[in-house]
Amino acid sequence: MGWLSELVEERGAEALDLHAQTVNPQFVRLLRTIGFDRRWARAEGAYLWDSDGNRYLDALGGFGMFNVGRNNPRVREALVEALELERPGSVQIGVDALPALLAEELLRRAPSSVGKAIFTSSGAESVEAALKLGRAATGRPRVLSAEHAFHGLTLGALSATAAPEFTSRFGPLLPGFSQVPWGDLDVLERELAAEDVALFIVEPVQGKGVNLPPPGYLAGSQELCGRYGTLFCVACSRSNTGGSSPI
Ligand SMILES: Cc1ncc(COP(=O)(O)O)c(C=O)c1O
Repeated sequence: MGWLSELVEERGAEALDLHAQTVNPQFVRLLRTIGFDRRWARAEGAYLWDSDGNRYLDALGGFGMFNVGRNNPRVREALVEALELERPGSVQIGVDALPALLAEELLRRAPSSVGKAIFTSSGAESVEAALKLGRAATGRPRVLSAEHAFHGLTLGALSATAAPEFTSRFGPLLPGFSQVPWGDLDVLERELAAEDVALFIVEPVQGKGVNLPPPGYLAGSQELCGRYGTLFCVACSRSNTGGSSPI
């Protein structure tokens, strides 16, 4: 038995108390209140098992890591193989073949207008990259997003999110961000016409509330962005695509 298995065997039962002491006591309080304070022992595909051997169907289907199934054997095999290859990984002065091979596969599946991939490890980080690329590429300061949008919790992404339930206590947010009413092309055009907007970031389906855009809204806003030199940034919610990734 390796040291990690021994550690889990020895300390696994303490998970909730340990989490409360060292990570997030409020979350553990919430789990205990709603009766989700199980000791999770194992996961496979769409199922979870607790330490008493009870099996649960896990209905969580969004988020990239869940919609391929937990501990997906093909993903696991690839990860193990990648570790066993002992690739150089992050070579600061040079490149490894694997990221470019992955990018090649992603681009093969993307619309032909997408020419490059940038790798990030979270949705918020993808949004930050989009904000920086958008400002750098256009030389413009402003960022527009839609009311009720959710773009993540880092400071730039939070400035685009702008809902008080997420932002209160973290201000001031970044300057240059404003919101337009979801689904209103007239207001969007008024804002874009100033020609100082770097990008309009928008979810095809708003994940917080599952709000669908009115017919023609996305195509219309893309057309307006093109007309006024603003980048049109589609930020896909993990709950509807299984991965938050501005394209
Ligand atoms: C549209 C959208 N953007 C950004 C995020 C933030 O992603 P993450 O939690 O991986 O930072 C989410 C998360 O649900 C999202 O739905």
